[in-house]
Amino acid sequence: MSDAKSDSMIRIFDTTLRDGEQAPGCSMTLTEKLRVAQALAELKVDIIEAGFPAASPGDFESVKEIAEHNFGPVICGLARCNPADIEKVYEAVKGAENHRIHVFVATSAIHREHKLKMAKEEIIKSAVGAITMARELVDDVEFSPEDASRTELAYLAEVVSAAIEAGAGTVNIPDTVGYTVPAEFDRLFRYLKDHVERIDDVILSVHCHNDLGMAVANSLAAVNAGARQIECTINGIGERAGNCSLEEAVMAIKTRSEFFGLQTGIDTTRLYPTSRLVSNITGMHPPRNKAIVGENAFAHEAGIHQHGMLQHASTYEIMRPEDVGLSKSNLVLGKHSGRHAFRDRIVELGFELDDFETNRAFQEFKKLADKKKDIYDGDLEAIIMNASAATSGPWTLHSLEVQTHTDQPATAAVTLLNENGAEKSDGAYGDGPIAAAFHALEKVTGVELTLRNFELHSASIGEDAQGEVTVTVEHDGRSYRGRGASVDIVEAGCRACLEVMNRILRRKRHSGPGKPTAEQATI
Ligand code: KIV
Ligand code: ZN
Repeated sequence: MSDAKSDSMIRIFDTTLRDGEQAPGCSMTLTEKLRVAQALAELKVDIIEAGFPAASPGDFESVKEIAEHNFGPVICGLARCNPADIEKVYEAVKGAENHRIHVFVATSAIHREHKLKMAKEEIIKSAVGAITMARELVDDVEFSPEDASRTELAYLAEVVSAAIEAGAGTVNIPDTVGYTVPAEFDRLFRYLKDHVERIDDVILSVHCHNDLGMAVANSLAAVNAGARQIECTINGIGERAGNCSLEEAVMAIKTRSEFFGLQTGIDTTRLYPTSRLVSNITGMHPPRNKAIVGENAFAHEAGIHQHGMLQHASTYEIMRPEDVGLSKSNLVLGKHSGRHAFRDRIVELGFELDDFETNRAFQEFKKLADKKKDIYDGDLEAIIMNASAATSGPWTLHSLEVQTHTDQPATAAVTLLNENGAEKSDGAYGDGPIAAAFHALEKVTGVELTLRNFELHSASIGEDAQGEVTVTVEHDGRSYRGRGASVDIVEAGCRACLEVMNRILRRKRHSGPGKPTAEQATI
């Protein structure tokens, strides 16, 4: 049941919110997921896999909310081959005008014997039953034989054939453990094309993991052999070494269009802003040399390259920075920039702030411009993240004083303001300035946290760049992530820690202990 799109069109199925979010350290709150879903819609992905509704009440709620926002793309939810999972996906996605149920079951010998303990025929029966049930609920059903790349070819063809007969409209071939190589994956897709009778009635899809660093190459090999949907994530985030990176696959198809003869519907100028949004939210920043969205992706430092670039950009540049949404000069604003320029730039960066948030962020921008001559995109993003955390109280950081000594404990004194503007101060010792400041915050807020991870990232360039801190902490057996930024890295750490403390206090206030909210389940 292939759709009406031309055969040169590659559908982009984004699974940042499902396979990406499943990766350790990449979990997002409901609000963050909504922001990402909206950015994906602006990027013009075809399908958003919004989550795995049976995984937790939080997953269910977030898929449902995303579906009900009707951002535009097809909203999809993942289900195992059982009625309860399928029913949950249906309940979660049905609010979206266009929705899809994605069912999967593992098919490789390793999974059959060690995980499922099921015979080949039982697996086919389970897949057919699930697809049939899903088709009774929705028109758009996708099926994935998990670990397809390690499944016997003849058996895989049998499974795919049965899935098509049962009514799947998209058949996805996952390289679940990132094991295949391009030439082998090309053979697998051609084999299916040759041996599955009704293969041209469905959209063939590809889903690759990056364990051997070949997720993008394998996805492109599949596309070259007939796949017409790529499953991928922003920045390639995902389990272990991640998934196929959306921005790399899309730009390869666009830049090498004379080779592939294919296209996507992606607005490539939204790639960079979306990448920054996802890395700011997850705290997982792509390496500087990451293709397409890394900070060095368009930097030509070597003298010989710079000389060539000045003669003609095409000597060393195969894509233009503006094609991926990177402004030619990343230097954006300064002390004299006005509110309009500020607002325009934050909209270009993919943020949607209301007037109150814009004013607050603009005030912070002015304060930063007094401390720092050049304000880059990274600085603006850091300001916005801080401003949105600060607007959600109850506590805001008023002042911080730290002292460190080479052979004595560090000391910190903090003053916080509550929602009524009242001050509360306390001080503490610690092994270092961060520990001392965190203990002082714990004393003022009454929220105790165990610090598990502290990551520092430079928001822009130069020695006056803001430090962006992402902390992972534990409270009452749950893991939380918080972010903060400042030109002072201890202050950035405090802001990150305070963001989490505020969230915990707000939840306690709104839901009371023992009443988990949707957001709580997806911290
Ligand atoms: O990697 C995988 O096999 C998956 C499937 C559920 C599609 O994520
Ligand atoms: Zn996967």
